[in-house]
Amino acid sequence: MALAGERVRLRAIERSDAARCYRWFNDREVTEHLNVRYPMSYATEEEWAERGSTANSYTGSQFAIEIAETGEHIGNCGMHEVSVLDRVAVVGIAIGAKQHWGRGYGSDAMRTLVTFGFRDMNLRRIMLLVDEDQPGGIKAYERVGFKHEGRERAGHWSRGRAVDFLIMGILREEFDAKYGAFVPIGEGAGDDSH
Ligand SMILES: CC(C)(COP(=O)(O)OP(=O)(O)OC[C@H]1O[C@@H](n2cnc3c(N)ncnc32)[C@H](O)[C@@H]1OP(=O)(O)O)[C@@H](O)C(=O)NCCC(=O)NCCS
Repeated sequence: MALAGERVRLRAIERSDAARCYRWFNDREVTEHLNVRYPMSYATEEEWAERGSTANSYTGSQFAIEIAETGEHIGNCGMHEVSVLDRVAVVGIAIGAKQHWGRGYGSDAMRTLVTFGFRDMNLRRIMLLVDEDQPGGIKAYERVGFKHEGRERAGHWSRGRAVDFLIMGILREEFDAKYGAFVPIGEGAGDDSH
């Protein structure tokens, strides 16, 4: 089973994803807006993929983003810091395959993740932080329905200078108003080679 968007699907992380993630998360162009600072060892990526492939739960989950049409793994996204009592989550996303930036995959993956959060996890609020120097991300999140809520001044150090982190959030009622009160989440076929 995978979570189906319009153009991507979100599937479980597999151990075999480690090699791609190792490449992506050692690429400064990919990591400059992320909290990834140190060179990433292959062992760290293997460990991450191992954990990601077995440890999804309500309080934290990771998904691989695949192009629906081709099955190509292009990045990852996930729910972090889910508060069970507040039913609030922080989400994150990285499309590591740079050739696919600006093609709508990030927006679709985020929309699919948020749909999962509201429909399947019964969350009330989903938020993220994005640095002010990441216009592609900001545009993608606005398109999904995230609203600007404030900023963490000088919250991120990027390319030798401090930049603000923008706080963006979407509430369940805003999601319902934009997409309809019930959006059934599709079950895109997963890779059946395992
Ligand atoms: C941020 C990210 C997820 C966006 O994914 P994406 O697939 O490129 O996003 P989309 O194509 O859905 O939407 C981006 C939009 O911003 C536009 N855009 C991209 N770069 C832009 C720029 N420098 N200025 C203005 N608009 C820009 C794109 O053209 C697109 O708009 P369009 O559909 O109207 O053409 C992806 O670029 C990424 O993972 N980057 C590296 C890691 C990262 O920074 N993660 C986010 C941390 S918060």
